[in-house]
Amino acid sequence: MKLHGKRILICISGGIAAYKINYLIRDFIKKGAEAQVLMTSSAEQFVSKLTLSTLSKNPVYSDFYSDNGTWNNHVELALWADIILMAPCTANTLSKMVHGMCDNLVLATYMSAKCPVFIAPAMDLDMYQHPSTKLNLELAEDFGHHIIPAEDGELASGLSGVGRMAEPETISQIIEDFFNSDKSLTGKTVLITAGPTYEAIDPVRFIGNHSSGKMGFSIAEEAANRGANVILISGPSSELSNHQNIEIFRVTSAKEMFTKVFEYYENADIAIASAAVADYAPKEIAQEKIKKSEDSLTIKLVKNPDILKTMGERKTKQFLVGFALETQNEEENAKGKLQKKNLDMIVLNSLRDEGAGFKGSTNKIKIITESTVTEFPLKSKTEVAKDILTFIEEQILK
Ligand code: PMT
Repeated sequence: MKLHGKRILICISGGIAAYKINYLIRDFIKKGAEAQVLMTSSAEQFVSKLTLSTLSKNPVYSDFYSDNGTWNNHVELALWADIILMAPCTANTLSKMVHGMCDNLVLATYMSAKCPVFIAPAMDLDMYQHPSTKLNLELAEDFGHHIIPAEDGELASGLSGVGRMAEPETISQIIEDFFNSDKSLTGKTVLITAGPTYEAIDPVRFIGNHSSGKMGFSIAEEAANRGANVILISGPSSELSNHQNIEIFRVTSAKEMFTKVFEYYENADIAIASAAVADYAPKEIAQEKIKKSEDSLTIKLVKNPDILKTMGERKTKQFLVGFALETQNEEENAKGKLQKKNLDMIVLNSLRDEGAGFKGSTNKIKIITESTVTEFPLKSKTEVAKDILTFIEEQILK
């Protein structure tokens, strides 16, 4: 049985596609899964608790309290689940999920969960196309959730377009693939640096750069999805993850990043340095805010430790991956870093390529090894992370 013993928590919100969840539950159970169902109060208008409970062989909850006064423990339910499936996920529930609203049992359970979350949105086509929905789906993807895109077809409104919840067979297949995809990095420890570093000038100002941490967090999510134990050391970044395989350490300066990296480097099997580390830091940090008394100000900078170069020097078993962010002579500079820092491969992104590098959710990379240069088209950072890890796995298996 393809889903034998897997615990699937299905959270239904109020959309016409809710009736399709009956078929989905039947399919999950047939494949050997255990299913539990939660629903919002508006979902109750679309599908009956009795049917869902009969099919799932479990009570179905929509409230924090049952009729007999017992408390429905959302934390326990969240921890029970191997995955949570939000389906159908309305624009309203999606928006509450990504903005931390927690006014019903479904949302409280979602927020207590540490397991992978799948979202199957369902709404009218204009709602699906609305910038707020697009942004919310992007945010959900940034959290590391798996989006099961809505499909094209006839909608409850009578209109036709993209917005229908994916068919139960499609959802079931995606979840089956997730559980059966080989966890190719199980047992491996992957150390990742991400984000910028901030080098203090005084208590108010710092030297920093535009890195958002998106690239590093995407790699961390993907490595964790492949079963790795991930140590993610990030400079200041608003990126988040609550993946159970990722341990995040937040640092500010290059020196702090250096210290944290070498607490974990020795045991790492793979180390990936995607952080944009400041090469220089002010020699002295002013204790008080610097006043603007003079016409010009000189700040003496000193070199920061090169974290990646030190990793290269201390390399034992680690497969070591660097990044190169270039603006000119890209390949030549990246190859220079590959050699100088004793790397196994380097990921080159150029600020001359539109959509590549800092901040945005896309990147365009070349992967360079001692003997090869492999170019990839512009992709989302989530997809770029997959390319990078697949390439690393191929190199390790060589
Ligand atoms: O965070 P995002 O907004 O998603 O942007 C992603 C990114 C553009 C920051 C990322 O893709 C990237 O290119 N990261 C490396 C940026 C960089 O600092 O490149 P570099 O060519 O200056 O450094 C070369 C390598 O040495 C990098 O792996 C860097 O992490 C490492 N390094 C650099 C200096 C230093 N003191 N210590 C280091 O470890």
